[in-house]
Amino acid sequence: MGKQLHLDIFTPPQKYEVIAVGSVGGLVVGICGLHEIDWGNQEAEIRIIIKEEHRGKGYGAELGRRTIRYGFEELHLLKLYLTVDVDNEASKAICGQGGFKRKSILMEVDEATWRRAHV
Ligand SMILES: CC(C)(COP(=O)(O)OP(=O)(O)OC[C@H]1O[C@@H](n2cnc3c(N)ncnc32)[C@H](O)[C@@H]1OP(=O)(O)O)[C@@H](O)C(=O)NCCC(=O)NCCS
Repeated sequence: MGKQLHLDIFTPPQKYEVIAVGSVGGLVVGICGLHEIDWGNQEAEIRIIIKEEHRGKGYGAELGRRTIRYGFEELHLLKLYLTVDVDNEASKAICGQGGFKRKSILMEVDEATWRRAHV
């Protein structure tokens, strides 16, 4: 019975997402989320966005750090991944600080242009 309940909650296609809201003095500066959580493989995709006017002040790095910690320590995930445009220097800097390793380059045809992103 206990096992059945566990399966009902966690097996696909049910989705579960965690959104962390970063705020400073009651003001929302951005959000960071854990998406596509795969409980079987204990992995999830992390996505982050900081409002344009609040970028470059360390909020992205801090929010990312806290969300990563939550994923590993509270949700007991074993792997987090994200997709980053190859020219997104700020995001690549955060990934480096978070200990992410580049696994591959995703190529995508977007109308007439090629877009490249690190995974
Ligand atoms: C990527 C993003 C979340 C970074 O947030 P942020 O609050 O501006 O970043 P921080 O101020 O915490 O800076 C983190 C690091 O990036 C570096 N950085 C910030 N902006 C940068 C830029 N434009 N170019 C190069 N490096 C940059 C900082 O120097 C810092 O590194 P350091 O600690 O070695 O100095 C933010 O730019 C954003 O929301 N971008 C749009 C959405 C996006 O691209 N999300 C990521 C894809 S999942």
